Amino acid sequence: MNLIDGKALSNTIKEEIAAEVSKICKGQKRPPHLAAVLVGEDPASAVYVRNKVRSCEKCGFESTLIKKRENTTEDELLEIVKELNEDEDIDGFIVQLPLPKHIDENKITLAIDPGKDVDGFHPTNFGKMAQGLPAYLPATPFGIMTMLDRYNIEVQGKNCVVLGRSNIVGTPISILLSRKAKPGNATVTLCHSRTQNLADYTRKADIIVVALGIPNYLKADMIKEGAVIIDVGINRIEAPERKSGYRLVGDADFDEVSTKCSHITPVPGGVGPMTVTSLLTNTLQAYKSNFLNK
Ligand code: GUN
Repeated sequence: MNLIDGKALSNTIKEEIAAEVSKICKGQKRPPHLAAVLVGEDPASAVYVRNKVRSCEKCGFESTLIKKRENTTEDELLEIVKELNEDEDIDGFIVQLPLPKHIDENKITLAIDPGKDVDGFHPTNFGKMAQGLPAYLPATPFGIMTMLDRYNIEVQGKNCVVLGRSNIVGTPISILLSRKAKPGNATVTLCHSRTQNLADYTRKADIIVVALGIPNYLKADMIKEGAVIIDVGINRIEAPERKSGYRLVGDADFDEVSTKCSHITPVPGGVGPMTVTSLLTNTLQAYKSNFLNK
């Protein structure tokens, strides 16, 4: 079994981005600038956003974190989005999901200028992605495609099974894997909560992307020998022996599945760091389009 080390790859790509930024700016131009909006107190979201901001520093980007209370109204958040859309010093921004229940996520996503939508969640970017046109790719699927590419994992003609059909992972990764591109050209099956006899699909899969949010869901008897496992799950489970009181596990049962697969992304240290790197890659692209080449 080979580990797909997302953390190491992400550090390599961050160094590449930092080198490019320093070459472009030479201390004379302003650097790329990412803003992140965090609403509420979700502890996992707070960690993710902190990682995003820290990674900006590593790459020589400027970053702005806008933290708002749980009881922020939808109108207040729409106003923040409008200001960020209009702020010429911000190249791209994200609104961390999930949002508190009283805020309509779709409404917020639709309000983001697609040219600054470095999460790739706006339907304009999603539609372009689906048609193979240049677009900001959603960060997690983009990170997965980068891992497959840099680890030279053959995708063309393979049977790929995606578990989960969310707008931000399952649905877009199924499109990217099937697109006529490299990596791509796979035969993709998208399974979800209503799929019958799900293991019949996963047992035939050369590559499985599991994005269900169910701890240790994928077991050894559900995969074939030599499969590639991309584990998108980041689940907190109780661990009283730890200072934090929890530990992170993926959607795949690592101990079981790792004895049978050819490659696997660990949790933590797999897909998660690559998501952050992809966001920075998109922000660098936004900087080039919105600032350098304006
Ligand atoms: N919540 C979980 N993943 C993501 C992501 O990639 N971007 C944002 N904005 N929120 C998320």
